[in-house]
Amino acid sequence: MAPTLLITRIGELVTNAPDGSGPAGFAAIGDAALVIEGDRIAWTGPAARAPAADDFLDAAGRAVLPGFVDSHAHLVFAGERSAEFAARMAGRPYQAGGIRTTVAATRAATDAELRAGLHRLAGEMLRQGTTTFECKSGYGLTTDDEARCLALAAELTGEVTYLGAHVVPAEFAADPAGYVDLVCGPMLAACAPHCRWADVFCERGAFGEDEARAVLTASLARGLLPRVHANQLGPGPGIRLAVELGAASADHCPFLTEADVSALASSATVATLLPGAEFSTRQPYPDARRLLDAGVTVALATDCNPGTSYTTSMPFCVALAVRDMRMTTEEAVWSATAGGARALRRADVGYLAPGARADLVILDAPSHTHLAYRPGVPLVHAVYQSGRRQPVVPDITGTQIP
Ligand code: NIG
Ligand code: FE
Repeated sequence: MAPTLLITRIGELVTNAPDGSGPAGFAAIGDAALVIEGDRIAWTGPAARAPAADDFLDAAGRAVLPGFVDSHAHLVFAGERSAEFAARMAGRPYQAGGIRTTVAATRAATDAELRAGLHRLAGEMLRQGTTTFECKSGYGLTTDDEARCLALAAELTGEVTYLGAHVVPAEFAADPAGYVDLVCGPMLAACAPHCRWADVFCERGAFGEDEARAVLTASLARGLLPRVHANQLGPGPGIRLAVELGAASADHCPFLTEADVSALASSATVATLLPGAEFSTRQPYPDARRLLDAGVTVALATDCNPGTSYTTSMPFCVALAVRDMRMTTEEAVWSATAGGARALRRADVGYLAPGARADLVILDAPSHTHLAYRPGVPLVHAVYQSGRRQPVVPDITGTQIP
């Protein structure tokens, strides 16, 4: 039997498991305890009824939540684009073409430089309570550069996404169809072994409906499950295409028609909302209330990328969702944990009940509400990943700031 750890005197234990058996909606218990056995949760319940264990941790009234599941991030890149952000804040709109700036920097970077940047961002995520994250390519846009970015991502996460169809790179400007052929052919063949997912930026200025369908269908034939960047900059076919193809998730979604909402509501496709992007581009936030009221499953994620959302903070996204998207604190926390797990089709994370992976966050706060009530405050006290306590202080030795 693996060693057991009892965490007791938990002020609020967010389980997302009302019946104790699985991810089925926000739920929390006060005056709680839980037992970790090896890498799994073995028991949750009232502290007064906690079983004995090999080791013991006094949470002293703190809240315990499932680790955040960040189901949408672009972490393999070089350089940064703070000048573009500053220009936007001074009144210039976001244009998808800025991606090419990062593409040039990424192609010029060594594997070691890309790995260092990826580790830095993954470390930031962990220290803010993220225990599962997805990572896309999309800043290489050659067969070799996409494949090496994905291989690097696969060193840190199993949730790796092929995004060769991010934008058409400059060298294919006169031949976008030729680029789609590359993405569906040799590039896909080189990238597929590293990935679980395929994604397309389906948007005016990036890839249209037919191109997106071609890329996602070719990817599916190689075993990569679809997800879509949809309706981010304007209305478009992305959400309906995601539903048509049975995508796990349609991401962004600020521009929604009635047909988009009903398509999502009658599907298993999760709407993943990325409020960091609207925050950083000063665009209108997606209408989370409309989606939730229609019965759509909603996830929250960071979209961490150097152009539109350079944050690794799920607590920040929860705060934005509560303050600016009219999600309740319970809905936002569910969407940032169990919702992210749904968007990644994962049944082992996003909740805390017997059998779940022992991924959890202990907050320096008595309840999950403090994540939104105390925005910008580093509330993460401890993080456990697969039952192991992780360091929440950065190791800055030798870290080069880009
Ligand atoms: O999710 N939408 C496309 N991709 C990113 C932006 C990438 C960039 O600007 O570098 C996003 O917002
Ligand atoms: Fe994105």
